[in-house]
Amino acid sequence: MYKSLLTMSDLSNKDIINILHDAKQFSSSRKDWHLSKSYLVANLFFEPSTRTHYSFVSAEYGLNCKVVDFNANASSLKKGESLYDTIKTFAMLGYQAMVIRHPEDEYFTQLQNIDVPIINAGDGCGNHPSQCLLDLYTIYENFNTFEDLNVVIVGDVSHSRVARSNDEALTRLGAKVKFAGPKEWMYDKQRHMDLDEAIAWADVVMLLRIQHERHEAEMMQNKMGYLEAFGLTQERYANLKEHAIVMHPAPVNRGVEIDDCLVEASKSRIFKQMENGVYVRKAMLKYVFQEEF
Ligand code: CP
Repeated sequence: MYKSLLTMSDLSNKDIINILHDAKQFSSSRKDWHLSKSYLVANLFFEPSTRTHYSFVSAEYGLNCKVVDFNANASSLKKGESLYDTIKTFAMLGYQAMVIRHPEDEYFTQLQNIDVPIINAGDGCGNHPSQCLLDLYTIYENFNTFEDLNVVIVGDVSHSRVARSNDEALTRLGAKVKFAGPKEWMYDKQRHMDLDEAIAWADVVMLLRIQHERHEAEMMQNKMGYLEAFGLTQERYANLKEHAIVMHPAPVNRGVEIDDCLVEASKSRIFKQMENGVYVRKAMLKYVFQEEF
């Protein structure tokens, strides 16, 4: 048996905690643990990616999978083949799991009849479960709980699959989730907070990338003033709680969402998130193949 992992709703709270515990083991005592078989896994990225793509590759090799990277530009997509026919072809060719990123929201609804586990590596503005799990891992690593943590997600919330997945998961794990940034970029204006109030309130400040590729040109005209208005400046950083942490899924627009000099500041977990991504993606593959330590 196997399980696909498409959205955070596929996981119970117990599943999430189990994945985080497994990831912890992959970071320490089980660095060399392998899956029972050398599964053939295909990574199909229809959108650019550095962290997600190559941390899945690292996790797959680490678990002794056989790994193939799909090159969309050299495929029959160029002859008009559909997503469904592409993925069905991989299933028929004997691939035993597929990691897919695609620009279409919930692209996976058209793949329900594919009899091979799929891990969603990001769908449009919809979901990003592997990013969410590595974010949860990073938060848990710092606080050992989610209960009653104050989390503010700052910036381009409405276009962010990271925000949606984290909002859903953190809320049901007991955290209080608020939003800050331009009000027109919020999908829930009721939970919008003034950024400076949010900075003093938050245990976790989760910055988001401005998604230039998803914005109209006119929305970007004020980009230069974004750091002062809605970014993490040195002044705001100084007002963070002593124990607060700063996160960003990256890639970071340095000097826009965060002052360049703060990207590796002591409260920043931005690069640690990337390292944690490999442990978490190993734990996701273990979950998908339903294997035990
Ligand atoms: N955070 C994230 O998804 O980064 P990539 O687009 O580089 O995978």
